[in-house]
Amino acid sequence: MRVAAIGQGYVGLPLSIAIASSGHTLYAVEIDPVRFESLRACRSYIVDVTDEELRRETENERYVPMANLAEVPEVDVYLISTPTPLTDDKRPDLTYVDRALAQVASVARPGALIVVESTVYPGAIRQHVAPLFERLSGLKSGVDVFFAYSPDRVDPGRDAVLCDVPKLVSGLDDQALEAIRTFYGTVFKEVVPVSSCEVAEFTKLLENTFRYLNIAFVNELSKATSAMNISLREVISAASTKPFGFMPFHHGPGVGGHCLPNNVHYLNHALGSAGHKSHLLNAAAEINESMPRHVMQRLAASLRRQGKSLQGATVLILGVAFKSGVADSRNSPAFAIGAELVSMGTTVKVTDPWLGIDMDSDTFKAVELTADECRHADAVVLVTDHEEIDYETVLASSNLIFDCRGMLNAAEVEQL
Ligand SMILES: NC(=O)c1ccc[n+]([C@@H]2O[C@H](COP(=O)([O-])OP(=O)(O)OC[C@H]3O[C@@H](n4cnc5c(N)ncnc54)[C@H](O)[C@@H]3O)[C@@H](O)[C@H]2O)c1
Repeated sequence: MRVAAIGQGYVGLPLSIAIASSGHTLYAVEIDPVRFESLRACRSYIVDVTDEELRRETENERYVPMANLAEVPEVDVYLISTPTPLTDDKRPDLTYVDRALAQVASVARPGALIVVESTVYPGAIRQHVAPLFERLSGLKSGVDVFFAYSPDRVDPGRDAVLCDVPKLVSGLDDQALEAIRTFYGTVFKEVVPVSSCEVAEFTKLLENTFRYLNIAFVNELSKATSAMNISLREVISAASTKPFGFMPFHHGPGVGGHCLPNNVHYLNHALGSAGHKSHLLNAAAEINESMPRHVMQRLAASLRRQGKSLQGATVLILGVAFKSGVADSRNSPAFAIGAELVSMGTTVKVTDPWLGIDMDSDTFKAVELTADECRHADAVVLVTDHEEIDYETVLASSNLIFDCRGMLNAAEVEQL
């Protein structure tokens, strides 16, 4: 098949390589000029795709980077993997999907299958995406073109082969479902059809919100257990010995990334449209979003015990990516913690082996991790526990270490 994949990010690029590796011809459309040039040079910027994979599929002419969809030859399938952020008032923002859809509308021919991979709210494909496309293109869904929804389940940095993860598929009509099922049957080991796009849309939000809620639960517990002098990490580890009915989640400095902090609001929006106000989702968002301030307050208390205050202090934040093993800092709690500290009159420096020192920020200075930087800081806060951090230097040179991840076991380290 000939496929055009719009958006070559954390979702689009690994998916495109998997499709090209399965023998299809994939036109990879990327609007960001820096990313596009990187693709043309076979340099991957996504942790789950190697330069070798990119080179192999490019040389085989199965992976073809394109800057503009209008220049792509006629294809059978369009995939949309563009961002789905929140508006300022935390409502779903489908602007990027709409723009991609407008581009598809200007080139798609009858018979095309249009697959949305981005996370959307239940009802979005039927009530928003398909009608918008029909208005823009004059083509009719279910007659001329076919709409499918197949939420991506990639977890960047996790050592999992994409094609081994069962792929959920759904369609607006029987023909769309059959088309997506057949297509992804050539790429994924297992394809899981569901009865409607709404079920697939809801399933994706359920999967991510399940994690978000459980993290909120342990985050809330952590606020009390530290005052009770109980190690919550030891409690979680003890509970994990139960072979059924328990799944460990760990508290931390907040929840970042493009997905989890957004998806809870997508689900909340969907429940709200059905006239339901979710106390649980709102409480979870409040708890997780309060963690950066909690870290700042705990750090202030630790410094006070040393006769210091945040005002005028220098704090070095270790790890800016939203989780370990990735270079993605979207919605990272490191920024929120940094902002809390700056508001208290603290000088904030940041260091991250995955992000280098090109992290531009008006408020924080990015530095290399050195013994001198640790020594000159009044406190070092471990926000993201990348394996590549030189923990020996941190332990040997820091005045005060505040560990948000339970990574450092030394007695003198303060734990969140
Ligand atoms: N990141 C994850 O782990 C993950 C996992 C599952 C689902 N998702 C969902 O997948 C979607 C994409 O997320 P992501 O993390 O891959 O985002 P991303 O920002 O890494 O990638 C999106 C890419 O699309 C490009 N783009 C935007 N509009 C375009 C257009 N009109 N034409 C061509 N390229 C365009 C951007 O430049 C960017 O490179 C979101 O809905 C997200 O919620 C993400």
